[in-house]
Amino acid sequence: MSILIENEAAMITLAESLAANINAGDCFALHGELGAGKSFLARAIMRSLGVTDEALPSPTFAIIQEYDANDGLKIAHMDWYRLEDVMDVDNLGVTEFFAAPWVSLIEWSERAPELLPQSTTHIYIELDDTDINTRHIRIEKP
Ligand SMILES: Nc1ncnc2c1ncn2[C@@H]1O[C@H](COP(=O)(O)OP(=O)(O)OP(=O)(O)O)[C@@H](O)[C@H]1O
Ligand SMILES: [Mg+2]
Repeated sequence: MSILIENEAAMITLAESLAANINAGDCFALHGELGAGKSFLARAIMRSLGVTDEALPSPTFAIIQEYDANDGLKIAHMDWYRLEDVMDVDNLGVTEFFAAPWVSLIEWSERAPELLPQSTTHIYIELDDTDINTRHIRIEKP
């Protein structure tokens, strides 16, 4: 499925429709270059799920941030950018976040794609050549 997003408001609308179909245990891999909007989309999804507070303290703060959402759901927003390889990611014990009550939103999963669950929804965000607020989105569900 391909979607043309023309501004941040449209990205928030997309986040709301994604959030409406999210269940505990779901994993989303957000792909795109630096500044594509992966964090923007992740935060918009979290807000749609009822996250209002700051990130809960986490020992692996920069890499995994944990949030409480509505209905007992918990969100793990991860950024694997600074990790070197699969061993690094694996050592974080990320697999616990791939089951209920967690929903995982992962940036730079390219560092260790083999650790993602088979059921991961992949969202590709591409910049536009001419308009700085436009994004081209592709969503791939298994
Ligand atoms: N339609 C849009 N959707 C999302 N972000 C947009 C849009 N238009 C402009 N932006 C801006 O693009 C930037 C996206 O930054 P963001 O931090 O989300 O990127 P990122 O993909 O997470 O990058 P990084 O790989 O560094 O983590 C923000 O400054 C945001 O305001
Ligand atoms: Mg980011």
